[in-house]
Amino acid sequence: MSTFKAGLEDIVALRSEICFIDGQKRQLVYRGYDISELVGKATFEEVVYLLWNGQLPAAAELERFKEQLAAEAALPEQLVDFLKASPKDAEPMAVLRTAVSALGLFDPDTSVQDREANRRKAARLLAKVPVIVAYNGRLREGKDPVPPKPELGLAANFLYMLHGREPDRMDAEIFDAALILHADHELNASTFTARVVTSTLSDVYSAVTAAIGALKGPLHGGANEQVMRTLLAIGEADRVDEWLEAALARKERIMGFGHRVYKTGDPRADYLRRFSQQLGEKRGETKWYEMSRRLEQLMYEKKGLYPNVDFYSASTYYMLGIPMELFTPIFAFSRVSGWTAHILEQLDDNRLIRPRAEYVGPRDQTFVPVDQR
Ligand code: SDX
Repeated sequence: MSTFKAGLEDIVALRSEICFIDGQKRQLVYRGYDISELVGKATFEEVVYLLWNGQLPAAAELERFKEQLAAEAALPEQLVDFLKASPKDAEPMAVLRTAVSALGLFDPDTSVQDREANRRKAARLLAKVPVIVAYNGRLREGKDPVPPKPELGLAANFLYMLHGREPDRMDAEIFDAALILHADHELNASTFTARVVTSTLSDVYSAVTAAIGALKGPLHGGANEQVMRTLLAIGEADRVDEWLEAALARKERIMGFGHRVYKTGDPRADYLRRFSQQLGEKRGETKWYEMSRRLEQLMYEKKGLYPNVDFYSASTYYMLGIPMELFTPIFAFSRVSGWTAHILEQLDDNRLIRPRAEYVGPRDQTFVPVDQR
């Protein structure tokens, strides 16, 4: 047996061709393309195709892929009824987790395990998850859902379904880039969860439902919403120093900072910091960006910690008019592409994932009947 490492830190659990991250060089690479080669150049749909197929699509392949996604955007009526019946104050990540599980009941391929069927299920999930998130977002605010316009593309269509109007070019491009930045991230907790479930030869919907459950936690995807709540609670830029002083004195975890792998900074934060500034300047509301910059500076000075992907995505999404409660469901919307890429890869060369535990409990116990205990 190997030696115990808390949280499996630095343990290599499997080999993969999908995503490479270098925690010292601040590198994030999808199928050989550094994110600097993709952000601002490729669309989210091209990156999903790359994650699933190992290469960027040719024009005809991209068109066919977009047509496939458009054909799968509609939700089963029963699922729309479920979303309408869901409690308005239910956590959107809990609604999403439940809705994705229910989605599997209406998919004719749900129990079909061949690669083509799994690719179809991956496309259905990618097309339907943003619709579920947008519908839930509208319904929880007492508004009618806005049916999808898939021809807008996944990013612009999400903002259209959420706001009931098509986004302008800058908003759509920034949101598309944010989806690229969240698409995959090697063996993070939710992706590992998806691979463990897949390794038992369970099904795609079970694996993605489990992954959503893992992403929901504030130590993983749930931090982005908490970052925005923190900024709103602080309220003004001139209160950041005092707030942080008190929070660190209480030994609190500051959401959006630190990372298990990136020890010299998260490369995704560089893009999201710029998006937060651009959108803040466009809307004449740069205070959330400025407060974030001050928090970033202080966290480095006091704790030597850097912002991770969740830190600046908070103010970026806020400036896009997205409700805070939908920040983590949006993370899931994007990460469905990475989860399903890993599910497909796991099945290509599967072995049950079953690590060991070092037993440190009592030994050689002798039974004592209950009337003598
Ligand atoms: C994501 O894995 C991935 O790739 C995830 C992700 C992805 O794309 O899938 O990148 C997305 O999950 C980003 C992380 C979002 N979570 C947060 O922002 C929550 C706050 N961050 C932390 O809880 C923490 O930094 C983790 C969970 C992200 C990483 O935790 P580790 O690697 O287990 O580090 P640790 O908890 O052992 O902390 C090491 C030290 C500790 O100090 P000591 O107790 O040793 O004195 O750093 C401190 C921690 O207290 N520390 C923090 C801190 N993060 C670490 N102190 C204050 N605030 C923080 N945020």
